[in-house]
Amino acid sequence: MMFDLTGKKALVTGSTQGIGFGIAECLAKYGAKVFINGISSFEKTANASAKIPNSVPVVADLSKTDCADELFKVTGDIDILILNASVQYRNPWDKITDEEFDKQIAVNFKASLKLIQKYAPHMMSQRWGRIITVGSVQQAKPHKDMLVYAASKAAQLNMVESLAKQFAPFGITVNNVAPGVINTPRNFDALSDEAYRKKVLEGIPAGFEGEANDCAGQFLLLCSNEGRYITGENIFIDGGMKL
Ligand SMILES: NC(=O)c1ccc[n+]([C@@H]2O[C@H](COP(=O)([O-])OP(=O)(O)OC[C@H]3O[C@@H](n4cnc5c(N)ncnc54)[C@H](OP(=O)(O)O)[C@@H]3O)[C@@H](O)[C@H]2O)c1
Repeated sequence: MMFDLTGKKALVTGSTQGIGFGIAECLAKYGAKVFINGISSFEKTANASAKIPNSVPVVADLSKTDCADELFKVTGDIDILILNASVQYRNPWDKITDEEFDKQIAVNFKASLKLIQKYAPHMMSQRWGRIITVGSVQQAKPHKDMLVYAASKAAQLNMVESLAKQFAPFGITVNNVAPGVINTPRNFDALSDEAYRKKVLEGIPAGFEGEANDCAGQFLLLCSNEGRYITGENIFIDGGMKL
């Protein structure tokens, strides 16, 4: 069977809802044991996990310096690392605070490196691994009020390109998947404003916003053996928004 992930263990950060939940659900459906990560509460994380057979909840805050150790205590070694959690603040360039700057860089970029440092050595020793970062269309089209968020995603992509080359000889692929506008709890408030929604949709050639499931299949391909020759790539899932 194509895309079979039986026997693989995957950690999907930020998978209590939205895109991360969709990825976790899909990988589990194709046979992986999946670790579901959130920050708000154990209850929320456990509730998400309860909806996905063969999954385990793990609460950890990726803005903390010990996040990789905290996650590892529950997960142990894994085969697939999906770096999906992120923090995003809206603020014009001259209003951005130190706290907002540090938090976005810590969760969206620094934690990605820390988790790779923790989990890649085992992948290297077994000569098989998959690492996928979640980027954003803002790598190519930064929103004027999300300057640091956009820059953190661009930095993460640069790291992916560096590591893809270094890890390829070890059977590990490293890729970035960059969504455009996807219907998730993060966007509910903004998109429920009809005038704002109309303006957003005008910028999407496909004419509609995506759903979490529009992303999940791309992750499944990259994680499977069928995706073994794809590395160092940046794949937009955005209905053409980057164009
Ligand atoms: N939605 C879009 O339109 C869009 C567009 C481009 C890129 N993206 C990217 O896609 C990814 C997922 O977005 P989404 O819209 O699905 O997000 P979302 O609905 O806001 O969900 C965020 C997830 O991340 C977790 N999280 C937040 N801060 C965390 C932290 N410090 N440590 C650990 N987990 C944390 C949340 O956990 P709790 O539930 O426990 O709070 C939740 O599971 C993000 O990287 C985002 O930047 C999204």
